[in-house]
Amino acid sequence: MFDRIAGVYDLMNTAMTAGLHHRWRARAADEARVAPGSRVLDVATGTGDLALELARRVSPGGEVVGSDFAEGMLDRARAKTDANGAGVRPRFEWGDALELPYADDSFDAATVGFGARNFDDLAAGLAEMVRVVAPGGRVVVLEITTPTRPPLSLFYRVWFDRVVPALGRLAGAASSRPSRSRDSGAQVTIADAYTYLPNSVKRFPSPEGLAAEMERVGLLEIRYLITAGGIVAIHAGTVPVVQA
Ligand SMILES: C[S@@+](CC[C@H](N)C(=O)[O-])C[C@H]1O[C@@H](n2cnc3c(N)ncnc32)[C@H](O)[C@@H]1O
Repeated sequence: MFDRIAGVYDLMNTAMTAGLHHRWRARAADEARVAPGSRVLDVATGTGDLALELARRVSPGGEVVGSDFAEGMLDRARAKTDANGAGVRPRFEWGDALELPYADDSFDAATVGFGARNFDDLAAGLAEMVRVVAPGGRVVVLEITTPTRPPLSLFYRVWFDRVVPALGRLAGAASSRPSRSRDSGAQVTIADAYTYLPNSVKRFPSPEGLAAEMERVGLLEIRYLITAGGIVAIHAGTVPVVQA
């Protein structure tokens, strides 16, 4: 599905959020508390916007790896890196978030932007982020959440349940033929993906629930902020320093 939407992904993000998604990524990058020289992993990096934001902060001398299991998304990310010019250039690599191909304690921080709600096993994905981050490092989760208070909750329901799938149908119509899914042979269309999106948000834990999941995988000092009128949540926690 993500390979299928790679070509329209950035445009849809801008259309759906009026361009605000860059601001939310910058806020998430703040929570990673990285500095020049830091090593950071951006899990489920997609087209790489959060990885590029992090790269600006770890330059000079740092390292940013963006990993994802959709090669179509990674290709877009790599093309942006080429256009990005000087500074730290993120490496974009294939990787399954549930089984990250990195050694324990390889990074000073790990982030995931709008990816965690797609994990088949949220706890396993979070545990992998904790495993690859060194003691004292940060794990940050940027995700869409459901506002509970009117009038934004009403606007959000209409926007997400009606407008976003309609934008997806438009983008699909303007794009080429549907591709065939490798596993099931089912037709996965762009319109399907943008109907899946609101449903995936509804299935995802509340901000309190996500904080509890983060605590269960061993993170400490978990804090979260809710921004954009209750539509976006940024959670962060610290990997414990194990006593000898
Ligand atoms: C909605 S996009 C988010 C992309 C990007 N992080 C951003 O901020 O725009 C979700 C991404 O998660 C990736 N993804 C979902 N599950 C994954 C997994 N188990 N392993 C690796 N990538 C995964 C998808 O391929 C897709 O690129």
